[in-house]
Amino acid sequence: MAGIEFTDLRVNGSRLLQRILALADIGAIDGGGVCRLALTDEDRLGRDLVVSWMTDLGMDIRIDAIGNVVGTWGGTDPSLSPVMCGSHIDTVRTGGKYDGNYGVLAGLEVVETLAEAGIETDRPIAVGFFTDEEGARFHPDMLGSLVYAGGMAIEVALDLPGIDGTRLGEELDRIGYAGPHPCPGVVPHAFVEVHVEQGPVLEAKGISIGVVTGVQGIHWEEITITGQSNHAGTTPMAMRHDAGNAAARLAVAVRDIAITIGGTQVGTVGAIDLQPNLVNVVAGRAVLSVDLRNTDSAELKRAIDALGAACGEIADTEGVAIERRTTADFDPVDFDPEVIALIEQTADRLGCSVQQMASGAGHDAQMLARVCPAAMIFVPSVKGLSHNVNEYTRPADLEAGANVLLHTLLKLQAV
Ligand code: GLV
Ligand code: MN
Ligand code: MN
Repeated sequence: MAGIEFTDLRVNGSRLLQRILALADIGAIDGGGVCRLALTDEDRLGRDLVVSWMTDLGMDIRIDAIGNVVGTWGGTDPSLSPVMCGSHIDTVRTGGKYDGNYGVLAGLEVVETLAEAGIETDRPIAVGFFTDEEGARFHPDMLGSLVYAGGMAIEVALDLPGIDGTRLGEELDRIGYAGPHPCPGVVPHAFVEVHVEQGPVLEAKGISIGVVTGVQGIHWEEITITGQSNHAGTTPMAMRHDAGNAAARLAVAVRDIAITIGGTQVGTVGAIDLQPNLVNVVAGRAVLSVDLRNTDSAELKRAIDALGAACGEIADTEGVAIERRTTADFDPVDFDPEVIALIEQTADRLGCSVQQMASGAGHDAQMLARVCPAAMIFVPSVKGLSHNVNEYTRPADLEAGANVLLHTLLKLQAV
């Protein structure tokens, strides 16, 4: 339906917000946040709720072998590939209500708005939610969309270990979301993801819509340090093989590497596990995570090399063994120039202030970009907080982003 690309059609912002709040009740934690780690019982309940909404909207629901769920609606010509949107509904352990969830529920709101208005689209509209985007329980992040796009074999993904000693495939079976549909999945005509910015830029500049031009490269490692556990009172300082001290030095080194490289380089040690983790015992073992990101792949490589050099130096001077295991490694991604331009024009026509920006966080759209034209819409995060229970986006901004999604999809579906 080529004539409906721009009308005064608008989403229902309060219906969208009600769904966001209802989903956030599942796995709600103190402070207003959400804990729905991938493939836990809470994730299953969240999935069940979103699937029930898809069913109510009359969508054709397909669950694939990695547990991605895609609901498809409309389309006058079934031979045409769908225009797809979506995101994820898993969260980190201390997540907010909006990260990922907003993009999925904005997609459902678009479908409901079109259905209510009696609009028939040329291409089907598909809304997906992808398994384990956060990568907080099973590394790497964006796992479901990576498998959907053919970037990891399903057998490899199903065998991934969780941080709690589980196996991904077993957890997927346990919650009843190992679906019959094959991976890689259907290649969409285009993919658009609306998401909260998760950073401070839009709010600080008073801009309502960010048009995302790309996502920075991401490198994760799990580093295991093996020393010698011993008595804290009797072991002279010069005779220790202290895995705890080596872990502390490595955490400081990661920060120094990021600051020295500068630019967009960031570096985080977000998790440290000490064994035996007791007051009067020198730690014999430490396992820590390292997250390095940069928009420039050469600079990211410099950071990874510097991490290797720091590991070597710390192992020598502390008398410990250090083993490195890469758990995520994704190059920076540039989104499609035509989809970027379309989002920008759409936001502009809707009267929104708009600016182009790169994403610091990883997103499912960066995986879909491997197989189809893709880009993203950002809306402001108050105080730039995310992966935090206080994550918040104002209802008016949620509504504006969903309207930009609606009209971007309307344009993309027309043949
Ligand atoms: C995933 O969302 C990440 O950016 O870590
Ligand atoms: Mn997200
Ligand atoms: Mn996240």
